[in-house]
Amino acid sequence: MRSELKKLHKAVRFLQRHIEISPMIGMVLGSGLSEALGELEREQRFLWEEIPYFPKPTVVGHAGEWVFGLLEKKPVLISRGRVHFYEGYSMSEIAFPIRVMKLLGIERVILTNAAGAINTGLKVGDFVLIRDHINTIPDNPLRGENISELGPRFPNLLDAYSARLRALAKAAAQSLGLELKEGVYIATPGPMYETPAEIEAYKRLGADLVGMSTVPEVIAARHCGLEVLAISVVTNMAAGIGTDKLTHEEVLEITKRREGDLAKLLRAIVARL
Ligand code: HPA
Repeated sequence: MRSELKKLHKAVRFLQRHIEISPMIGMVLGSGLSEALGELEREQRFLWEEIPYFPKPTVVGHAGEWVFGLLEKKPVLISRGRVHFYEGYSMSEIAFPIRVMKLLGIERVILTNAAGAINTGLKVGDFVLIRDHINTIPDNPLRGENISELGPRFPNLLDAYSARLRALAKAAAQSLGLELKEGVYIATPGPMYETPAEIEAYKRLGADLVGMSTVPEVIAARHCGLEVLAISVVTNMAAGIGTDKLTHEEVLEITKRREGDLAKLLRAIVARL
């Protein structure tokens, strides 16, 4: 793990040599959402391939860029795109950018993703605050020797999705007249969408939403003490719920359609942080 910490510090030093602002808030824009926030004030962009030891995203709809700048006058870092377990990355590779955020001095992260709805009270296009998660990805970023400089061996995930930030996000949504629902997200390894039987099982387990990301990042973020807010955009009804055909194109189409409102919501949240 010494070597992992060295890599993290190398990436941090590279960024600190170049960045003109010190971000306090980190954001991850998921599938089809990477353009949502447009240009920032005092913007500086870095392709992931420029930053030492950063993973390279391989999926259409995931840009792989870090953007530093001011949003609503607050210093932020926006990750346009992310990497996933199904791309073949290790969990420490998926956690790497989150850990770099922490070492850059970021205190809270806002994660976004596209998700399928299991709960029939949700509909395509809804924004849903993640209240809690269930992990079915057969690994996690904390397995192996603990990086004690980042956090404890046995962290708890009791308030993983900060109640304080959820209340703040709800107030922000209300001020815009946007509906913001709440639910439990189940993370699957992907890349295939689920079977109807799996979705029925996940429903019985208590999941409202299903997706292939976010949970590894949340585990890494909570380990190192970052406060987390996570928002899903419902892009489809999950397998067997309704008549959805479940294609990546559909996911991207819906996220594009909801990008404008999501940007408004994210700005209103950041303004309140
Ligand atoms: N399942 C898994 N991941 C997803 C889905 C889904 O239905 N929709 C968007 N991401």
